[in-house]
Amino acid sequence: MSDVERRQDRAPVPTDWTYAPAPEARDIVTIEERYGHYVGGEWLEPAETYTTLSPATEELLAEVGQATPAEVGAAVDAARDAYENGWSALPGSERAKYLFRIARVLQERSREFAVLESINGGKPIKESRDVDLPLAAAHFFYYAGWADKLEYAFPNRRPGPVGVAGQIIPWNFPLLMLAWKIAPALACGNTVVLKPAETTPLTALLFCDVLRQAELPPGVVNIVTGDGRTGAALVQHPGVDKIAFTGSTDVGKAIQRELAGTGKRLTLELGGKAANVIFDDAALDQAVEGIVNGIYFNQGHVCCAGSRLLVQESIYEQTISKLRRRMETLRVGDPLDKNTDIGAINSRQQLEKITELVESGKEEGAEIYQPPCRLPERGYWFAPTVFTNVAQSYRIAQEEIFGPVLSVLTFRTPDEAVEKANNTAYGLSAGVWTEKGSRILWMAQRLRAGVVWANTYNRFDPSSPFGGYRESGFGREGGLHGLEPYLELES
Ligand code: NAI
Ligand code: MG
Repeated sequence: MSDVERRQDRAPVPTDWTYAPAPEARDIVTIEERYGHYVGGEWLEPAETYTTLSPATEELLAEVGQATPAEVGAAVDAARDAYENGWSALPGSERAKYLFRIARVLQERSREFAVLESINGGKPIKESRDVDLPLAAAHFFYYAGWADKLEYAFPNRRPGPVGVAGQIIPWNFPLLMLAWKIAPALACGNTVVLKPAETTPLTALLFCDVLRQAELPPGVVNIVTGDGRTGAALVQHPGVDKIAFTGSTDVGKAIQRELAGTGKRLTLELGGKAANVIFDDAALDQAVEGIVNGIYFNQGHVCCAGSRLLVQESIYEQTISKLRRRMETLRVGDPLDKNTDIGAINSRQQLEKITELVESGKEEGAEIYQPPCRLPERGYWFAPTVFTNVAQSYRIAQEEIFGPVLSVLTFRTPDEAVEKANNTAYGLSAGVWTEKGSRILWMAQRLRAGVVWANTYNRFDPSSPFGGYRESGFGREGGLHGLEPYLELES
């Protein structure tokens, strides 16, 4: 027996090549049994509570407050007090110091935050670790840089703060949406009352500890938890000067109706049904990666997800067969496993919505494909799904599914691609895959979408403005544009 043979004898070749489990340790995170509201730098004991859970296991995690109108009022008063007694008059260079500190603390504690985000929201650890956390810190760094340069950003317009901002955020990127909202508000000299989504309050509550570490003056940021009733109380409170909302189009419309005539300022970042357009000259393997990233990233709980795939007819068969092969390699399961690509659906309610829309797709006549995968027994799960034979009139081609479900349509000419891509009530984002730079520019001029990605998808940077057209909302977050909603400017 040779040496090699002897070694093989001792370590037999495995019979199956699936990955071994690679769970991220969760003991870096301490979850309290019960949380209050963070008001004026103190924890306010909540009058009512509810239980937040892990969507991957249905394990109960903690009791959190369901803020009443009176508690929301206390938070608004604390924000007003902080605004009038110090914060709004602080030089920009001083505000910047706090934002830089917050950014650095977030970086230092990023693993802790990433683990907690995955536990409470169900997203894969590799995404919370490599996307949510670095971007959240980057937003604070970026807006810290603007805090003392507002006069240069808006020359001769005497930029000043708006006042108290009420901020309502969704559950798909809990900490990142918090960063998108809080960083520009503070950079411009406003104070904040923020309400996280009811299913994902824990990273926002942990963030209060970052505020304490950064020694942010009390009342500059207040966090109240609760469901839509708490959000509505914040919208209605007369002491709020500006509302920033990210969430569903229905709630966005209701908020806009509520605020009409009040003089309160409003920005809305709502849903989407983005077209991801693949031309026959595209680098197909990269495009397939872009399709997968476009719709299966974060379980498809992404407002700018590439949920409508438009493929040029001549490469249709090839694209679909490559896509199916790629989908077979996606790993669905434990969000804390470092090899997981698709984690848990955020809530039972969202799982029901996805299931209902997928059933409608089957009934209307689309053809469904799901790769073989074993879903965990407990928790909320949905296999990656692609629908072919989709007509533009089907609900799965019109409505936002907000899950790992792709609808495929085809086109022959660039004009037809534009027409189909724009055939939606939304207008948040789009993707274009082609070799030709001139075609990218031609498409970008015609697509009615706030963001157009070329030969990439779901790429974010704090310096780049993000926001929609039509039913996707109005106002921009990120970049220089993201300062404007938080500033009074002289014309
Ligand atoms: P939602 O719009 O009800 O929730 C988003 C946030 O708004 C949460 O913090 C919620 O508590 C709050 N809210 C709910 N009702 C409110 C009200 N009347 N006044 C003030 N705030 C209120 O969204 P939901 O029900 O969680 O999801 C439904 C659908 O909305 C999803 O399936 C998806 O299609 C879409 N959606 C889009 C998001 C985006 O990023 N654009 C984020 C979340 C949901
Ligand atoms: Mg809702």
